[in-house]
Amino acid sequence: MTDTRIPTARLGAQGPEVGVQGLGCMGMSFGYGPTDTDQARAALDRALELGVTLYDTADAYGAGENERFLAPFFRAHRDEVVIATKFALSIPKDDPTRRIIRNDSPYIREAVEGSLQRLGVEAIDLYYMHRRDVNVPIEETVGTMAELVREGKVKYLGLSEVTAEELRAAHAVHPIAAVQSEWSLFSRDIEAHVVPAARELGVALVPYSPLGRGFLTGAFANADKDLSSDDFRRQQPRFTGDNAAANAALLKPLHTIAAAHDASAAQIALAWVQQRATVDSLSVIPIPGTRKASRVEENVGATRITLTEDELAQLEPIAGKVAGERYADMAFTSAGRE
Ligand SMILES: NC(=O)c1ccc[n+]([C@@H]2O[C@H](COP(=O)([O-])OP(=O)(O)OC[C@H]3O[C@@H](n4cnc5c(N)ncnc54)[C@H](OP(=O)(O)O)[C@@H]3O)[C@@H](O)[C@H]2O)c1
Repeated sequence: MTDTRIPTARLGAQGPEVGVQGLGCMGMSFGYGPTDTDQARAALDRALELGVTLYDTADAYGAGENERFLAPFFRAHRDEVVIATKFALSIPKDDPTRRIIRNDSPYIREAVEGSLQRLGVEAIDLYYMHRRDVNVPIEETVGTMAELVREGKVKYLGLSEVTAEELRAAHAVHPIAAVQSEWSLFSRDIEAHVVPAARELGVALVPYSPLGRGFLTGAFANADKDLSSDDFRRQQPRFTGDNAAANAALLKPLHTIAAAHDASAAQIALAWVQQRATVDSLSVIPIPGTRKASRVEENVGATRITLTEDELAQLEPIAGKVAGERYADMAFTSAGRE
């Protein structure tokens, strides 16, 4: 393993300079089964050593728990890290298992104060709207987010799971640094409209779940059989039952290409999404999630892999054949509004 730091890129035309690969921190306290916190802290430290600077969390990950967990790391390295967090998934007091999407001004103001307090910082570097509440005009939501920039509580703005139209309307109110949406060999719907709009506006793409939530690595083949009962992926249609078996069969070319590069399937999946920066001519900063330092090293290694035209062509048909939706409830995504 080399200790060479990864290259940097600008997060959109007007955003900060960041390592070309970020780190998704959600699984460190939420969604993906039991976590060893010492191991997760070691993963954060290793990532920073290797030049990973964009760290992704959200207030909804464990109802604030993920932000609290990350706070000591962020405070110890405040000038080296770019902290990204999100608002919009409100948890009703009477039912902590539910999430209600809220984009209204009072809610955003309450959410930002909560995140700042839990993170223990003066300002959030990149503040995302996590999900779109279609009952609130996007101009109003971004208007409130822009006020937070003027007040010094937030430095850059981002949007997650938006349509191209919503991105354009938002960007007209205040520059948007990044759109975060699912983008991987298994999830390519944003390429139709969102990616061209982002390129035109100079907005960066931050692909979430670039490893298909771990499925593309071969780490699990069937969520029902391989993952713990509280693992969120057991609710995702493409990872269970017959869909999982059909989807696992799609990974064959990934393994063939990995062998040719003396690399892992995870590295090829990440190299593919990273290479979209060249294919689509825009800034792409994937945020693979891991709680293990050894996997941080492996994933960062993907930044040194370039796939050939022939390899890209072999991987091209995969997404079109995936069985099952990304989420059980697609109302929580931009799909259907496109
Ligand atoms: N905006 C949104 O709505 C949204 C939605 C989902 C996620 N996100 C963000 O995106 C980040 C990344 O997405 P994600 O965590 O859902 O999915 P992901 O990055 O596609 O995959 C993460 C899973 O892959 C495993 N993994 C990571 N590297 C591996 C490797 N080299 N070999 C084998 N397994 C590996 C991880 O397990 P270990 O942890 O055990 O290594 C974890 O289970 C999240 O952390 C979160 O910050 C945002």
